[in-house]
Amino acid sequence: MPVITFANTKGGAGKTTAVLLLATELARLGFRVSVLDADPQHWITRWHENSQGVFGNRLSVVPYVTMGTIDRQLADEKARADFVLIDLPGSRSSLLAKAVGHSDYVLIPVQGSAMDAQGGANVIELLQYLEDKADIRIRHSVVLTRVNSMVTTRAMHAVKDLLAARRVHLLQTPIIERSAFRDIFGCGGTLYTMDARRVSNLDKAQENARALALEVLQQIPAALRPTGAERLRSVA
Ligand SMILES: Nc1ncnc2c1ncn2[C@@H]1O[C@H](COP(=O)(O)OP(=O)(O)OP(=O)(O)O)[C@@H](O)[C@H]1O
Ligand SMILES: [Mg+2]
Repeated sequence: MPVITFANTKGGAGKTTAVLLLATELARLGFRVSVLDADPQHWITRWHENSQGVFGNRLSVVPYVTMGTIDRQLADEKARADFVLIDLPGSRSSLLAKAVGHSDYVLIPVQGSAMDAQGGANVIELLQYLEDKADIRIRHSVVLTRVNSMVTTRAMHAVKDLLAARRVHLLQTPIIERSAFRDIFGCGGTLYTMDARRVSNLDKAQENARALALEVLQQIPAALRPTGAERLRSVA
């Protein structure tokens, strides 16, 4: 079943947040999801421990992922999940090439700043290298993260122009800066178990996560899409 890796060699780009949003949203849509947590900060593992079996065995997290274990872990999780998501560290690591090489789709979260675009460019260069040297083509997209809901900044325009010039696919759905996306790591649970009276714009955060998941589903090659995905797309 499809493997989706989240990669940007710059720390803090929003990888872990994007993984959690997609994992919970796909599980909510009824898919079995497994997350390989290769982020040394283990945010997803901690969130899962805090979330009291949310989604039951539809959502599982593999807490320790190393170069020595990833092949076996991926094979196991692919056999039992509809989607396997990999959360990578925010630095150049040997896991990057390995995880990317195993992926059906790579998502590159990029904040609307030039620094972050460089971290994303490192991943795009690796994908280009695999294509040129080994004829391995891996579908990939950039997703803009921490986007201000009110204004489109100049830096954001610069990132968009850069991507267009390099012909890199950009998801139409950006991940907006929302307190719900921060708080969820502290309180555990999902965007649907949070208290709307205490978290501002929770409905907008839910809408954003749903739009992201539906757009990602459309990016997965049809032959790999788990059953049910077509039906979900038609209700989008
Ligand atoms: N859309 C968002 N809205 C609000 N806060 C966000 C959003 N995306 C990320 N953050 C916050 O920015 C910080 C970095 O995000 P995150 O941990 O997801 O990045 P990362 O790329 O996984 O980092 P690392 O490279 O260190 O693993 C965190 O404090 C997170 O809560
Ligand atoms: Mg992270």
